[in-house]
Amino acid sequence: MTNKYKYFVANWKMFGDLKTVNSINKVIKFSKSRKFNNAKIIYCPPYTLLNSFVQKLKNTNIEVGGQNCHQIDSNGPFTGSISSKMIKNLGCKYVIIGHSENRIEGETNSIINQKIKSALNNNLKILFCIGENLKEKRTKKTKKILNNQITRGLKSIRNINNIIFAYEPVWSIGTGIIPKQYDLKNNILFIKQLLQKKFKSKNPKVLYGGSVNHKNVNELRKINQIDGFFIGGASQNSNKFIDIIKKTFI
Ligand code: PGA
Repeated sequence: MTNKYKYFVANWKMFGDLKTVNSINKVIKFSKSRKFNNAKIIYCPPYTLLNSFVQKLKNTNIEVGGQNCHQIDSNGPFTGSISSKMIKNLGCKYVIIGHSENRIEGETNSIINQKIKSALNNNLKILFCIGENLKEKRTKKTKKILNNQITRGLKSIRNINNIIFAYEPVWSIGTGIIPKQYDLKNNILFIKQLLQKKFKSKNPKVLYGGSVNHKNVNELRKINQIDGFFIGGASQNSNKFIDIIKKTFI
């Protein structure tokens, strides 16, 4: 990877409590160093920690995002949900939408489309996750699935400048397995070309997610087309997270 601007999304999933908030002190310190100029870190902790993260990261160049939002963009009788308006109101800049762990729970492309619209209405930037599962990969349906997820998820959305894409093959999440270099490059290029063609996006940003760690990042960073990494497990350990960022820019 050359020295261009890269994203590092820390998706903490359903991990972390009040005690773990201070574990990011090292990352804050690191973010003030020179190397950091070309890195953009976005922490996405569970809802219970969003406010603590926002407060802690005030006056730093690290940003905070929610892990999901309801499709209704303000308030309503939806027990257990939070809206994009609430996430914005807390001081977050981003929200993850379409993660496969939510798609598996029944989140359809059409619901995802409504969620993206609600988040855009509230001026949030979106981390839009897409990716095929193992069966789809084996039956060579990857491109068809990516095309469906993108076209349906972005239905009647014209301006996609505030959407960052995260290509996350489902079979790669939490498994320690990453795609073959050729396939990964090919799929990232496919996504970018689709966005350029169908959505007239000049410079779409596409991250890779799925078992990224401080070891395999040496391999992944060689793919120039990747604009950063979406990191689950390894992002909860500040040393490993920093290591990934450092190695990306070697
Ligand atoms: P992982 O998770 O890095 O633990 O594989 C990635 C993700 O699901 O966002």
